[in-house]
Amino acid sequence: MDANGGLGDPSEICENERNMIVIQNIGQLAMPGGRVAGDGGQGSHCGVDVLRDAWLRIEGDRIASFGDGGAPATAAGDEIIDAGGKCVVPGLIDCHTHTVFAGSREGEFVKRIEGKSYAQIAEEGGGIKTSVKAVREASEDELVALALPRLNRMLAGGVTTVEIKSGYGLSAVDELKMLRAVKKLNQMQPVELVGTFLGAHTVPAEYTDRRDDYIDLACSDELMGCVAREGLAEFCDVFTERTAFTVDESRRILLKAKEYGLTPKLHADQITQIGASRLAAEVGAISADHLETIDDGGIDAMKEAGVIAVLLPGCSWFLGVEQAPARKIIDAGLPVALATDYNPGSSMVESLTLVMSIACTQMRMTPAECLVAVTTNAAAALNRADRIGTVAKGMQADLVILDVENYDQLPYNAGRNCVRRVIKGGRVVPLRS
Ligand code: NIG
Ligand code: FE
Repeated sequence: MDANGGLGDPSEICENERNMIVIQNIGQLAMPGGRVAGDGGQGSHCGVDVLRDAWLRIEGDRIASFGDGGAPATAAGDEIIDAGGKCVVPGLIDCHTHTVFAGSREGEFVKRIEGKSYAQIAEEGGGIKTSVKAVREASEDELVALALPRLNRMLAGGVTTVEIKSGYGLSAVDELKMLRAVKKLNQMQPVELVGTFLGAHTVPAEYTDRRDDYIDLACSDELMGCVAREGLAEFCDVFTERTAFTVDESRRILLKAKEYGLTPKLHADQITQIGASRLAAEVGAISADHLETIDDGGIDAMKEAGVIAVLLPGCSWFLGVEQAPARKIIDAGLPVALATDYNPGSSMVESLTLVMSIACTQMRMTPAECLVAVTTNAAAALNRADRIGTVAKGMQADLVILDVENYDQLPYNAGRNCVRRVIKGGRVVPLRS
């Protein structure tokens, strides 16, 4: 074996295979860096540094160098990409989704318009349980086929990493089927997928009178143990809510998950305030998501424990309910990420850039805060901040070339896809939308 582990002399690798790309003529290179904090003292560009008239060099799957003031020296074999004087941002990261699902719930959408609430629909046996029925009836390959075009559209919208939760199976076989579909999808297309086990999404109908038995199943070696052993998920999420799991039940599930090496996340403080964000702090969750009804005690506890606040403004917008108090959370100094919560019930919202627009107009988050929230802070919420989510030497080359001049114009162009090209792991990816 040679010094290169049997791969041959690296100097013999042809230039193409080395993947040398230079992006030139970048009007604004946006480098989100810091965590969003209202008192960060960085003015309106809180957390985002910019270079104008910039270039960036990719070698292999990494960012090798970048700079401003015209073009860098290029070498033979470099692929040159002209950004046309437009803005380049890191690949966007959607850190909370339910992208694997079957069926459609537009009937509930109409019922809400007519006056029923999301919680009422759930209490009447609809909601999550409707999607559970459809997912149980679908095969793993059918789930894959349904999710693939969704991921293609997300990629075309500049999203290069997506977290996907189980939670519509609610049996060992069906939860594992969902997460195996995620694993398969990860191998089939360019978007990097991150699995989260959400066996505790709601108590399935057949366990209504014996909820403890369902929690036993969720925590069992057959289910949670198998998820961990097969590497199907990195995180374990619980919907801690009056219509789903109590704080005590959630604690039990999340502590068990930690034993299996899964990192806790919570759907917290969405509809009612039952202490879920405090539990997130107590169990050392990486993030607490939703937070529409968070109180001061929850904010303090999360800050103390370093829990990331993942806000889901597309969900409140889609349900027509009040948004999470983003300004209060940011001004308290918590790191904030934004995600779509893409799911067929509460957030049929695929577009992370539309979510940024909603966060700007409905939550008074600045475009800079939003950009940090869908890159650096979203990467942190997925335990990937050392590899993705910003522009820095040595970071993975996940980049989006926009057709707008600066990142403020990204949420400003609400509902329009401003993405021109996407680079994932150093490779320009074909876009199918
Ligand atoms: O994040 N709140 C709980 N879970 C999802 C909704 C799931 C559904 O309604 O299908 C959410 O909003
Ligand atoms: Fe969710």
